[in-house]
Amino acid sequence: MTNGPGGLDETANTLWHGRFAGGPSEALQALNDSLGFDRRMYQEDIAGSRAHVRGLARVGLLTDDEAANVIDALDRVEAEITDGSFVFVASDEDIHTAVERRVTEISGPAGAKLHTGRSRNDQVATDVRLWTLGAIDEISGLIHRLATTLLHRAEAAEQHYLPGYTHLQQAQPVLVAHHLLAHGWALLRDADRLADARVRVDVSPLGAGALAGSSLPLDPDGVAEDLGFSARFENSLDAVSDRDFVAETLFDLTLLGVHLSRIGEEFVLWSTAEFGFVTLDDGFSTGSSMLPQKKNPDVAELARGKAGRLLGNLTGLLATMKNLPLAYNKDLQEDKEPLFDAVDTMRLTLLALDGMIDTVTFNFDAMAASADSPYAAAIDLAEYLVARGMPFRDSHAVVGGLVRDALAGEGSLEDLVANHDELGPDAAALLRPGVPVRNRTTPGSAGPAPVADQLERFRSALAHRQG
Ligand code: ARG
Repeated sequence: MTNGPGGLDETANTLWHGRFAGGPSEALQALNDSLGFDRRMYQEDIAGSRAHVRGLARVGLLTDDEAANVIDALDRVEAEITDGSFVFVASDEDIHTAVERRVTEISGPAGAKLHTGRSRNDQVATDVRLWTLGAIDEISGLIHRLATTLLHRAEAAEQHYLPGYTHLQQAQPVLVAHHLLAHGWALLRDADRLADARVRVDVSPLGAGALAGSSLPLDPDGVAEDLGFSARFENSLDAVSDRDFVAETLFDLTLLGVHLSRIGEEFVLWSTAEFGFVTLDDGFSTGSSMLPQKKNPDVAELARGKAGRLLGNLTGLLATMKNLPLAYNKDLQEDKEPLFDAVDTMRLTLLALDGMIDTVTFNFDAMAASADSPYAAAIDLAEYLVARGMPFRDSHAVVGGLVRDALAGEGSLEDLVANHDELGPDAAALLRPGVPVRNRTTPGSAGPAPVADQLERFRSALAHRQG
């Protein structure tokens, strides 16, 4: 037997040994093997094989006995991998190879028929699609959980308010509930995007073969139905060569990650001594190895930081896909690690962020103290004048002038307003603590009445998306 340089003596065991005189080199194997990461798809791979075998039996390519035999072997392989007794060998290049090898060992000649009419190209596309469907469902559940936690914290925040910001400069007070639900609505859109992507993931590629289908009387529709897919592929070349469904899922996860990074950033800021708006629970904070007084918001920081990694996974996969000619190319093996990493990252991030938000203490007094600056009500003074017939541009200038005078030390804004001809004591009352936020009354806005309505809408939006 001739092996390549540094080759392993496994020639007889490769899936393509008939065509090859020599075995694979060690360097090729090290680069080429995907078992290290694709073995986590073993259940999907075995489910696909069961459906394929049943399909072969339906069209008479396997007898019922042979099919039963191979399915028993598949069951045994699944049990062995699950309980850890499965022994992988050097020629197990990927999970598909390993499962087929072991099935053939167990069931002999019947097992050697398992791969009839099938290629690893349609097989791997099927596995990745099945895996992605499960991942979307899991992540959607975790998004729902975080959105529910935001809702509960919003309900419990009652009429408390904090400064709203633009340019990270205090702008207008908003209810804490309003702020939390802003993130909640973004999460619901993330879940909707994943649900929409799911429709395009939910298509079976099995039966596409290596690239062009088969001369055998396969039944791709029946196999698709057996696997629970909503449809089968329309074009065999497309079925085995596109990973747009992975890219789309990665985009949705990345945008979700971007949303979580914004939440993370706010909690980082809010937990500083300078803001003091929140106190993180000890279970969701870390200490410093050197500075005894430190309490660090690592969960929030990682929620912020993980977005970069997700974005890298997305752009990496898109770069891999770019310019690939039809149909399958080995480059496509690079689809799995970014996908798995993105889903693993999201699972950890969503769970930790959920726990952090569930247990955080909101320091409502500090929030109010910060939001109660009379300057935050400047727009209400301008609108007071508008309600009395003054064009907005003029009222903006009048109030801007008073703010400038107050800042220049000519008196408090309250006094300047109270003594102003066109404003007076009624207008000065608008500056009192808690008043500005109560005056936000328009639909979808930051005050108590619209937020009560919004909470109701959010509850029903969540319920509609329940499982
Ligand atoms: N491990 C391969 C992948 O992940 C499976 C498909 C291999 N196909 C092939 N023609 N070599 O893409």
